[in-house]
Amino acid sequence: METKVATKTISVGVIGTGGMGTRHAVNLHRFICGARVAGVYDLDQSRAAQAAAQCGEALVFDDPLKLIQDDSVDAVLIASPDDTHANLTLACLETRKPVLCEKPLATTVEDAVKVLEAEDALGYKLVSVGFMRRFDPQHVAVKNAALSGELGRPLLWKGVHRNASVAFGITGATILTNSAGHDFDSARWLLGEEVQEVYVRGLRSRPELHEVTRDLLLIEMFMSNNCMATAEVYVNAEYGYEVSAELVCQRGTVFTEQADKALVRSKSHRGYFVQSDWLTPFQDAYVAELVDWIESLQGGGPFHGATTWDGYVTMMVTAACIQSLNGSALVPVKLIEKPALYE
Ligand code: NAI
Repeated sequence: METKVATKTISVGVIGTGGMGTRHAVNLHRFICGARVAGVYDLDQSRAAQAAAQCGEALVFDDPLKLIQDDSVDAVLIASPDDTHANLTLACLETRKPVLCEKPLATTVEDAVKVLEAEDALGYKLVSVGFMRRFDPQHVAVKNAALSGELGRPLLWKGVHRNASVAFGITGATILTNSAGHDFDSARWLLGEEVQEVYVRGLRSRPELHEVTRDLLLIEMFMSNNCMATAEVYVNAEYGYEVSAELVCQRGTVFTEQADKALVRSKSHRGYFVQSDWLTPFQDAYVAELVDWIESLQGGGPFHGATTWDGYVTMMVTAACIQSLNGSALVPVKLIEKPALYE
């Protein structure tokens, strides 16, 4: 007779319940059968209460550290602003709780190294980083086509990353830290190579924008094993949000198809709607990421997404890109030796 092994339900605490955190909380509550939302925290307590109300019996915490330390919380999902990620992740490591930290892992190289060193000292992995393109069906299809070997060796990754609009006065450095990290991770993951040098140029798309704004960036990355990558990151594209990636291989190319296939005919025009933000295009990726994370916590094998090492490398590439943008120079990316934990 077959014996059914009981699988533990993972109780997750969500920190930061704005757009992304609420989406994760609701996805956990609705779609992930092995998980429940145990508690939420947001600096804006009314937002936390709104998210909790959509997630069954989630408690509203008034302090993120209390949430992390609470016995009812098995694992933590961090979706608060970028500059809070490193310290909250360190607090999770201190309490030995698994954490899925939204990207970026940190906003400085020093903080990324602190997290890397803390986890390496523990000797086992607790940190997962939310570079969800690794779970996006279109990106996975590109990866699988490359892995099939039929196209030959991948030589070049070409990414396009467009946002409808961003806050007035945004600098190139902020875009590189907050947005382009996805592209650095995508290039590394799809090519299977490490970034060695970067070259970045940027411009202000409209004269009425703040003087410091650099909202259209062209990023070139020179990778290990004689590969290259190039990304256009344009965050005031007005028409909507779009991400695509193409791999140019020795004997062919492979490109991410859009998942949204509804053909629209309207006003002498035939085409496809473009979404205004990332929540709809990447919904399948967010859910697949949570499924993989929760299954890994239930003992179903390793998490297949980004690790602390990937978060650290992304921060190193980001810092080199900021230096390149500011100095119009080719900048090397000098990584520390990869700890055995991440091999
Ligand atoms: P948001 O501005 O919609 O939400 C941020 C929330 O954090 C707000 O509710 C705010 O009240 C709260 N907050 C502010 N300070 C806090 C603190 N010290 N502790 C706890 N909560 C605090 O921003 P959004 O879009 O939800 O982004 C959240 C994080 O998710 C960011 O790190 C962002 O980079 C990341 N993100 C990732 C995406 C992905 O596709 N992987 C997409 C969008 C955002």
